Amino acid sequence: MIYLDNNATTPLDPRVQIKMTEFLKENFGNPSSLYPIGRAVKEIVTEARDTIAKALGAKRTEIFFTGSGTESDNFAIRGVLDAMPEKNEFIISAIEHPAVIETANYLERKGAKVTFVPVDHTGIVDLDRLQEAISTKTALISLMHANNELGTIQPIQDVVKMAKEKGVLVHTDAVQSFGKIDVNVDKLGVDLLSVSAHKIYGPKGIGALYIRKGTNIMPLIYGGHQERLMRAGTENTIGIVGFGEAIRIVLEEGDKDKKHIAKLADMLKRGIEEKIPKVKFNGHEKDRIKGTLNFSFYGLEAEAILLSLATKDIFVSTGSACSEDSEEVSHVLSAIGLRPEMARSSIRISLGRFNKEEDIPVVLRELPEIVRKLREISALDINDS
Ligand SMILES: Cc1ncc(COP(=O)(O)O)c(C=O)c1O
Repeated sequence: MIYLDNNATTPLDPRVQIKMTEFLKENFGNPSSLYPIGRAVKEIVTEARDTIAKALGAKRTEIFFTGSGTESDNFAIRGVLDAMPEKNEFIISAIEHPAVIETANYLERKGAKVTFVPVDHTGIVDLDRLQEAISTKTALISLMHANNELGTIQPIQDVVKMAKEKGVLVHTDAVQSFGKIDVNVDKLGVDLLSVSAHKIYGPKGIGALYIRKGTNIMPLIYGGHQERLMRAGTENTIGIVGFGEAIRIVLEEGDKDKKHIAKLADMLKRGIEEKIPKVKFNGHEKDRIKGTLNFSFYGLEAEAILLSLATKDIFVSTGSACSEDSEEVSHVLSAIGLRPEMARSSIRISLGRFNKEEDIPVVLRELPEIVRKLREISALDINDS
């Protein structure tokens, strides 16, 4: 199998699996219990919290565990808007993940004013339009760090600068950037930042939200005293342990991963552009998570490419995992100006730690052949595209 859909999810690192299995064998205590088996688990949770804090350049008390990246995004946005009823406006980009877009749609239905700021043809947010959208009623700007479909990295620091001048909070969804590029809350200057374990070789169903000390925010989930009253519910201790170990590995080996993935992605990108005619690269050449490659194949349906590759045990995606079973054209590809037929011809290849250099020639042999064969039988004229 050649798994090239690491932006959808990553395989569990075997070292994370070992750590989680060992933990499960010995620890069933509730971290809120005061007797030793509870305290022992609480210590392990604290250790994982410290590891995330270290990776983000944050304080332990600024890290809140959640059930996913999606929950972290909801918590950040709804929590801030709930805390500031007098400021009922917020700003997002047009290419946010559905976790942010659908939260925005929900809040709009409840009466909030949301501005969706356009992006350029590479996926970079229009800073002038963003600046224009800020008003005295703006509570929050939520702008993703790296896009899941294109890999494009946003100029978060510039946005923070604009926001701070007007006293507006900034949240960034760093689910796709964390573990792949430097994500440091002070360098970025953000107030809130979302991460998720299953994009960095950790388990599914565990995320975290960084909340800068002093940020005005309400909880999303009410109940017990967990997470210092900010996220009730007995902690997903096994998930937290896996998340901590996944981050420990990133801290140790992240630079090696980065070089390895960039090398493979460069080989693949060059090969595809050389071997396949009428292909368009989507995204930013430079300001991009290197392992994310998005291409449109003129005249074809991406699904046909995906299914043909799957028969060869090569797995890619036609967009974000969340929109995979939807008929709609990707909102990200529409926002960068692709016509619907071009958007529908686009596949995303996302590389990860466990891809091997010898995988690349296999993909560069199979993909051009598949595209050639599909174009032979395609009813669409590639010269029309
Ligand atoms: C940019 C981005 N944000 C949020 C999420 C949601 O994270 P989770 O799957 O942990 O809910 C994803 C997952 O695809 C993502 O790519």
